[in-house]
Amino acid sequence: MGMVMCSLNSALFFYFKKGVLSGIICIHVDDFCWDGEDFFRDTVINSLKDKFLIGTTSHGSFKYIGVHLERDSAGGIGLSQDDYVRSLEEVKLEEKHKRSRSDVLSEMEKRDYRALVGQLNWIATQTRPDISFDVCELSSVFDKARVDDLIRANKVVKKVQSRSVVVQYPKLRDQNQLTIECYSDASFGNLKDGGSQGGHVIFIVDSDGKRCPVTWQYKRLRRVVKSTLAAETLALLDSAEAGVYIATLLAECLNLSVGDFVVKCFVDNRSLVDAVHSTKAIEDKHLRINMAVLRDMLSKRDIQSITWVRSSLQLANVLTKIGACPKPLLSAIGGCSTSSQ
Ligand SMILES: *[C@@H]1O[C@H](CO)[C@@H](O)[C@H](O)[C@H]1NC(C)=O
Ligand SMILES: *[C@@H]1O[C@H](CO)[C@@H](O)[C@H](O)[C@H]1NC(C)=O
Repeated sequence: MGMVMCSLNSALFFYFKKGVLSGIICIHVDDFCWDGEDFFRDTVINSLKDKFLIGTTSHGSFKYIGVHLERDSAGGIGLSQDDYVRSLEEVKLEEKHKRSRSDVLSEMEKRDYRALVGQLNWIATQTRPDISFDVCELSSVFDKARVDDLIRANKVVKKVQSRSVVVQYPKLRDQNQLTIECYSDASFGNLKDGGSQGGHVIFIVDSDGKRCPVTWQYKRLRRVVKSTLAAETLALLDSAEAGVYIATLLAECLNLSVGDFVVKCFVDNRSLVDAVHSTKAIEDKHLRINMAVLRDMLSKRDIQSITWVRSSLQLANVLTKIGACPKPLLSAIGGCSTSSQ
């Protein structure tokens, strides 16, 4: 039907009319989500409907793979999972009173624990970055989960249920003047087994400063590192690569060139910003390699800048630190978080 499969994601299809994006379809298993101009609907979508047996269809505001999408009058989109969040249930401990916090869970409890953490992970990746840190920690003890961990998982259920969050995607202007902002942060050696965690959140920002949060991630850093600086550097590198990926995806989607998008990185560690911009030799060899990759990305203009921001403005903070205030990030992704209790 003349659609082009995205080279970076084979479940994403674009339709161009005279070189300009006219429609888009994304596919999750056999669920299609599409948007586009009337022409696209009348030709491509209608032919799809002739070809395949389509079950239910919805438009405007609806649920897609469990996430509620709501369109606002200004052309923006809000995402929420409040129904799903409300349906979460805490896991009950067997023989609650006879157990100590350090006891290992029974096989049955472990199964329920894993299922609950799976549900929390789904929420964290879709609409609730504020529980990212908890989920990462809860997932790191699957095999040897203890009573303590289960109590914590149940607390996270209360935490997600205590506020309602709508992630906002405002309509952006000037497609050829978009900036990609990448915020990264890390915690050195903070996981129970000594591992470090890194996280980032990435926004597409237009010339009016309107921002869409396109992706966030929090995870154990892929290698054991020796210092805060090394942890921050690795997290920054992951974030810069993810930013370049988004720029490439956007360029393909909008039929523009990657160079049309400016990628900017933000970190809250001055030593890191200084180190990237200095030629002083670094002793840690692995760190030296990562630093060289970052400098190379800067010199090739894959990323335009690496800038220091105050910790309180570091939106990725909450992804990597226990007890970090979720408000800056939650208000950056929607500003619509209210207590539902
Ligand atoms: C993208 O735009 C160029 C013109 O700038 C055009 O030649 C090309 O065919 C377009 N690509 C697609 C897939 O439509
Ligand atoms: C920045 O990194 C240095 C090590 O390079 C570390 O000592 C310091 O605590 C870090 N500061 C912040 C705010 O993370």
